[in-house]
Amino acid sequence: MAAGKGTRLKSRHPKVLHEVGGKPLLAHVIAAATNVVPAKDVYAIIGHEADRVRAAVSHSGINFVLQEPQRGTGHALMVAGEALASYDLVLVLSGDAPLITSKTIEKLRDFHLAKKAALTLLTAQLENPAGYGRVIRKSKGDDVHAIVEQKALSAAQKKIREINAGFYAFDARLLFRHIGRLSTNNPHGEFYLTDMAAILGKANQRVVALDAGDPHEVLGGNTRAELAEIDQHMRRAKCQQLMTEGVTIFYPHTCVIDMDVEIAADTTIEPFVQLLGKTRIGSDCRIRSYSVIADSDIGDGVLILPGCVLDQSQVKAGARLGPYSRLRPGSEIGEGAHVGNFVETKKIKMGRGSKANHLTYLGDTEIGEGVNIGAGTITCNYDGTNKYKTIIEDGVFVGSDATLVAPVRVGKGAYVGAATCVTDDVPADALVLGRARQIVKEGWAKEKRAAQKK
Ligand code: UD1
Ligand code: CA
Repeated sequence: MAAGKGTRLKSRHPKVLHEVGGKPLLAHVIAAATNVVPAKDVYAIIGHEADRVRAAVSHSGINFVLQEPQRGTGHALMVAGEALASYDLVLVLSGDAPLITSKTIEKLRDFHLAKKAALTLLTAQLENPAGYGRVIRKSKGDDVHAIVEQKALSAAQKKIREINAGFYAFDARLLFRHIGRLSTNNPHGEFYLTDMAAILGKANQRVVALDAGDPHEVLGGNTRAELAEIDQHMRRAKCQQLMTEGVTIFYPHTCVIDMDVEIAADTTIEPFVQLLGKTRIGSDCRIRSYSVIADSDIGDGVLILPGCVLDQSQVKAGARLGPYSRLRPGSEIGEGAHVGNFVETKKIKMGRGSKANHLTYLGDTEIGEGVNIGAGTITCNYDGTNKYKTIIEDGVFVGSDATLVAPVRVGKGAYVGAATCVTDDVPADALVLGRARQIVKEGWAKEKRAAQKK
């Protein structure tokens, strides 16, 4: 179920697309579901901002059912009736509860089948159950009498700490035979799926509950505060897992590591580092504080000094970045290369052992091996309309403060004098100088000062 608006988030964006652990709520739930059944048997019920939700998760290969308008969780299942008609068993998952694991979904399914129930609901014991539907069990055993939503709770029922987690196993035939009995006779004026517990009970069908054990696993992200709590919980678990696999993380609670990030053993992550998206980091690297790395590939033995920002880039083994390097999309830094202080790169390929250590912009540039790029070098890749390429071949020495006006090529082993503006191709092994000749006027400054004193 992923059709709701998420009113409590006070957001312009659909609830299930809000992110925790670097991915939409719904993407986590789909991942758990497709671990249990093939994607072709997974249906997302979408409605509010359906196109956006569909686009965000369609790569998973699942199916979609459109619920329009959205008249409650019970209505969501009514709408899905046709799509689910051929199944015996339907597992209903809440698209806003992303900590659910495939193991627990399997447990729910197996328990349901073992109990031969019409409906099995997953429950949890919460310290603070406010906001959740409460489970009214029969006097003993697993059987459930009803689920009562927060707004309808009596004073005594408010003390019940066992909540309905929003995950259900249904006998499909019984669900759809009786679903027509749901009504909107409640404070929200919606069809509550939770009313199926009492409805199936009254029809002499078995309704049971299974306690999930870990209360965190069922947390729903209905408010910003709940999203923050879920996000923290997820990232803490991610750090734990990485540490178990041999990664050193200092002050893990200060690091923001997305769920899909991979890090090899013996790499060290310093405090306040963010590793986002599909980032992969090799072994024996050190990522120093305040670096933010998104969707990038870092080889083995790379040192990233403090304050680097990387996006969609590749850094090969043994390279060194920073402090304060910015690698924009399409930057490929070769083995053992150095990119230093306040250097910005975009769409470049830098060969093995090349260096650009200080205050430089390199865009749309191919740099060979063993190249030295002097301080303050700028590639002028843009004429206001189009972008052009700069090629700097192996072994070139670019002096400080050079500007390279693209399109331009500097041949192998050439030497670019400091402060040169290179506008034309430079042949291999040449020296190029393009700067005004120095003029010296002796005594000029002294005379000026004397004149000013009068
Ligand atoms: C629901 C349960 C509550 C339970 C809680 C667990 C009902 C009536 N209540 O409450 O007992 O404790 O989940 O998290 O079911 N949705 C649709 N279509 C709709 C309405 C909602 O697809 O018309 C989707 C939402 O996008 C969401 C899920 O169903 O992913 C649950 O809806 P939500 O409004 O969050 O229900 P809760 O108030 O949390
Ligand atoms: Ca919810």
